[in-house]
Amino acid sequence: MNKIDVVLGLQWGDEGKGKMVDVLTPGYKIVARFQGGPNAGHSLVFGNESFVLHTVPSGIFREDTANVIGNGVVIDPTVLMEEIRAIEAMGVSVPERLLVSKRAHLILPTHRMLDAASESALGKGKIGSTLRGIGPAYADKTGRYGLRAGDLLLPDFKVKYNALKERHLRQLSGLPQPDFDLESAEQAWFDAVEAMKGLKFIDSEWYINQALDEGIPILAEGAQGSLLDIDFGSYPFVTSSNTMAAGVCTGLGVAPSRIGRVWGIFKAYCTRVGSGPFPTELFDEDGERLRQVGHEFGATTGRPRRTGWLDLPTLKYSVMMNGVTDLIMMKSDVLDGFDTVKAAVAYRSGGQESDTIPYDTAGITPVYKEFPGWKTDLSGFRSYDALPAAFRDYVRFIETGTGCPVTIISVSPDRDAVILR
Ligand code: IMO
Ligand code: MG
Repeated sequence: MNKIDVVLGLQWGDEGKGKMVDVLTPGYKIVARFQGGPNAGHSLVFGNESFVLHTVPSGIFREDTANVIGNGVVIDPTVLMEEIRAIEAMGVSVPERLLVSKRAHLILPTHRMLDAASESALGKGKIGSTLRGIGPAYADKTGRYGLRAGDLLLPDFKVKYNALKERHLRQLSGLPQPDFDLESAEQAWFDAVEAMKGLKFIDSEWYINQALDEGIPILAEGAQGSLLDIDFGSYPFVTSSNTMAAGVCTGLGVAPSRIGRVWGIFKAYCTRVGSGPFPTELFDEDGERLRQVGHEFGATTGRPRRTGWLDLPTLKYSVMMNGVTDLIMMKSDVLDGFDTVKAAVAYRSGGQESDTIPYDTAGITPVYKEFPGWKTDLSGFRSYDALPAAFRDYVRFIETGTGCPVTIISVSPDRDAVILR
């Protein structure tokens, strides 16, 4: 039976999903996003140029690839149309390659206001949201108030919009007032909504299932990372969707038995943007070095990312939760200059040691295993066997620890800089 393959992040996002989807796309005819929204920032690098995608799937630059925005995604028309204009400026005719699920929910300007207001009400306890209106839009979806992409085409769309906006304004009256020009944001939003009508709206569950029946290879592209999952991430410091493989079933309408290969992407170290627990976080020179060498600044918000060593217990957890069949290791080259490379293998808390992440992460300290650095520029390597032995030992440690093979290793940002095993 033809199955849908999945590529997703195993850490806190920003693992390099954009680049890998772009690398994997030649093997697929359809690339589909199943969750998240413009909180995502998927960077694609072509030579010296890079392009950041937020809502559009990362197969958009490949000819003969259809790109689907699935029902599990939340769409901000303003952001989507801006993104499409930028892609078209690169000579790509987007409407020919992009399909939008009628069931995908819409982010309204007032969702962004609510995101900002609830973050400022939380003060020090804030989530560190990207302020793209993601949480409030998903809250309206589960609260059954949301507007969907298919509603754009209905005659009473404006009436529905106004009813939801009024509801939001009532909610906002009890919150700190965000600095937000609603009128001009609404103007831009309605212009974008008009422009969106030129896109193809589909029943994506039928489209995907029929394509599967016809034997067409499909790749589902995850956004964020497994440790930001609404159910299994470090709640409440998470995003508002299921970022794990299970999200493919609900976010595209695919039966669990039709999930095929699961490509799990992780960085050779860890990063996190926003608040929340990060057991291996570094506050020293090593952390700063990871940030500078790895260019760890947010693709969506520009915020400096928090950095730390690889965390094997959480990686193992993500592999289990997603049914990962293949690991993809990113940014190995960032560790090239380190004399010693470390990875957490367990956590210590109150005199106890555990190799699984506890429910309460307060006060835990990581137990590290140290590796001698390989002190070699990895960026030119294209064959696994030629790689330095010290680096291969680090890879073997990850494979043994997770029980999963590392099939692809990326050694620099460029499209071609990958080692396939
Ligand atoms: P990609 O797809 C990294 C984080 C935010 C915040 C939390 C909740 O590029 O990997 P939200 O705006 O979703 O309500 O924010 O989730 N976050 C991400 N971190 N990469 C992302 O996407 C993220 N999307 C959201 O920083 O901590
Ligand atoms: Mg990103």
